[in-house]
Amino acid sequence: MGEDWVDLGSAEALARRPLQRVKAGDVPIALSCIDGAFAAVHGACNHVGGPLGEGTLEGDYIVCPWHHWKFHRQTGIGEGGFETDRIPTYPVKVENGRVLVNLKAATKRSRAPHDPHPLARAVQRAEGPVRVAGLSTTAMEKGAPRYSGSDHLLESALAAAGAQGCETQLIRLGQLKFRTCEGFYSKAARACTWPCSITQMDDTDEMTAVYEALVHWADVVLVATPIRWGQASSLYFKMAERLNCVQNQVTA
Ligand code: FES
Repeated sequence: MGEDWVDLGSAEALARRPLQRVKAGDVPIALSCIDGAFAAVHGACNHVGGPLGEGTLEGDYIVCPWHHWKFHRQTGIGEGGFETDRIPTYPVKVENGRVLVNLKAATKRSRAPHDPHPLARAVQRAEGPVRVAGLSTTAMEKGAPRYSGSDHLLESALAAAGAQGCETQLIRLGQLKFRTCEGFYSKAARACTWPCSITQMDDTDEMTAVYEALVHWADVVLVATPIRWGQASSLYFKMAERLNCVQNQVTA
């Protein structure tokens, strides 16, 4: 094992933050410090390269700020169930009040196979009639339903398409629970993934139904919205923001 000790800076200053991003030459390092004990791992996450030094600590695990994969700060090993996912670790020492890492003694990175999300499959149009998806974006309360002009138009259009021999599907956004877009693209272009980062992290998020319909199923999409203050509904915009990943990673 060779030695290439690189000075990261003053131990006193570096100990003030539990986790931080530093550079050892060209190498990004996620440097952590708990109770005065430093540990250093490579700064790039195994997933799509998120900056681990900008993440948070959960006990001894570094949580990636992009999509929350976790790696042990001292061993570089992934969280329970993903132990074959490893990021490089580096020996650290404190000498004369300075923190040093040995770049030559890095452990190896290894990537565990992760099953791709079902949405990540190739888009293939199966044989069959024209498929029309209708998206209702009214936010009507389920407990107090009332007449919705936009829903009425949508239902009429889908019925007419069905009468022409099309396959139809109606999705009511008001019946789905889904999170707002968290702007991963603003963090970095590759932080906004397909399938959506939120969809991959949160099994309870129900935008999957919309992605399935829009990306894998429909030839025609009809969106119905009430107009208030000259604008489409808030649910429409909430859905549209969650389509950033489709625009950025599928159609781009
Ligand atoms: S979890 Fe780290 S880049 Fe996605």
